[in-house]
Amino acid sequence: MIMLRLEKKERIRIWENVVQAIEDYNERVAEHRVAPQLDPDAIRGRLCRFDFQEPVEPAQAVDFVVENLWNHQVHTPHPSYFGLFNPNPTTMGVAADALVAGFNPQLAAWSHSPFAAEVEMHLVRSFASCFGYDPAACDGTFCSGGAEANHTALLAALTARNPDFGEHGTGSFLAPPTVYVSSEAHHSILKAARVSGLGTRAVRIVPVDRRLRMNVAALQDAIEKDRREGYLPVMLVGTAGTTSAGVIDPLPEMASIAQARNLWFHVDAAWGGAAALVPELRSLLDGCEQADSITFDAHKWLSVPMSAGIFLTRHQDVLLQAFRVGNTYMPKDARGLPVIDPYSHSLQWSRRFIGLKVFLSLAVAGWAGYEEAIRHQTAMGELLRSALRNRGWQIINDTPLPVVCFTDRGREDAPHLERIVGEVLHRGEAWISTATIGGKPVIRACITNYATGEREVQALVASLEKARGNV
Ligand SMILES: Cc1ncc(COP(=O)(O)O)c(C=O)c1O
Repeated sequence: MIMLRLEKKERIRIWENVVQAIEDYNERVAEHRVAPQLDPDAIRGRLCRFDFQEPVEPAQAVDFVVENLWNHQVHTPHPSYFGLFNPNPTTMGVAADALVAGFNPQLAAWSHSPFAAEVEMHLVRSFASCFGYDPAACDGTFCSGGAEANHTALLAALTARNPDFGEHGTGSFLAPPTVYVSSEAHHSILKAARVSGLGTRAVRIVPVDRRLRMNVAALQDAIEKDRREGYLPVMLVGTAGTTSAGVIDPLPEMASIAQARNLWFHVDAAWGGAAALVPELRSLLDGCEQADSITFDAHKWLSVPMSAGIFLTRHQDVLLQAFRVGNTYMPKDARGLPVIDPYSHSLQWSRRFIGLKVFLSLAVAGWAGYEEAIRHQTAMGELLRSALRNRGWQIINDTPLPVVCFTDRGREDAPHLERIVGEVLHRGEAWISTATIGGKPVIRACITNYATGEREVQALVASLEKARGNV
């Protein structure tokens, strides 16, 4: 008996079990400890039972997975998860991912999934417009996440600067290309440099100022020095919402420098880009509209399930130039139609309908729903900041966005801060982390969940106070 497609009765039972498990998780996750006790042997011991010789009952297999997901993951959807930009997924996003798995649209060729491809391009234009691009003169693609979007940006920048790059690689540049990022930028740019053939040494790490923003004087010096020494500055990356500290680089000044020196200006707004949806935060992103390209992750502050990266550009041809390759086997049914095959326009080839979770979430919440959620999270960040200050903790970063980096006033050494965080994690009351910003060890807490309220913020502060007393 082939077990790939179950009998109808069994299928319905499985769907019901899965829905029940997800609903139960939604209802009860807040009562559970946030982080698991880490025990690889316990997990491996359970997996040993699966040698895949004897089929397992479908319901039993699902129960096994549900039980182990409950027990062996950091519960990023927990309202006391103050973590790394991982959200509590929207209901419509979860529903969308189930629909995508069931209908399995193939987004390589437009003609195989015209609806899915058009939904994604509709979203590309809608988000481009939020960032100040002309929706009629922009382009973009959905990606696996911010890392792929940043990689796409580097390939676009190299292609725009040198049309021979695609065929002849980095060797076709007359001088070695260089890229500029701040010391607080996300490390995916380094990976992109590595896999594009530039090598990580081509990435110039520009120091930050006191406020952890790229130091533009140091940037100018670095570009001039490279030019004098025979390098070819190609790309400048600004970050709108750094990973460790939620800080926004001086985007308008960086845009002017990039323009004056003929560099591709990319803004990595993977998390902080959501500020564009809130009128009183919008001006924080001034300068984005001048960027040649933008990274924005819907699986961060737009709270869709992982993963949904978006790459946007105001150059309409660059993606095709960077990614189109000839072949004979892909479908030709859409020839003559004014459409683009996604595979010829992005890094991935076969891929799932990433945009549906964004489309359904946005269709149901509307811009207004997101505005409210983002405003609420920003207010909770402010509450956390002031509650910590009132208890004598020292806030280190300067951002209106809800990432709070702090130290224990008078005891700022890394081992002390690590012990505090370790104690909070061990008790399972909240999830926070440590980071190093501007060379200083800090504790980091981010309001990454729209359901995090005053109660969870006050509980986190109490937990930190207890840990500080205990260590
Ligand atoms: C600023 C920034 N850019 C890029 C990334 C990479 O995104 P992803 O993990 O979706 O690939 C992150 C991840 O946190 C980030 O914070």
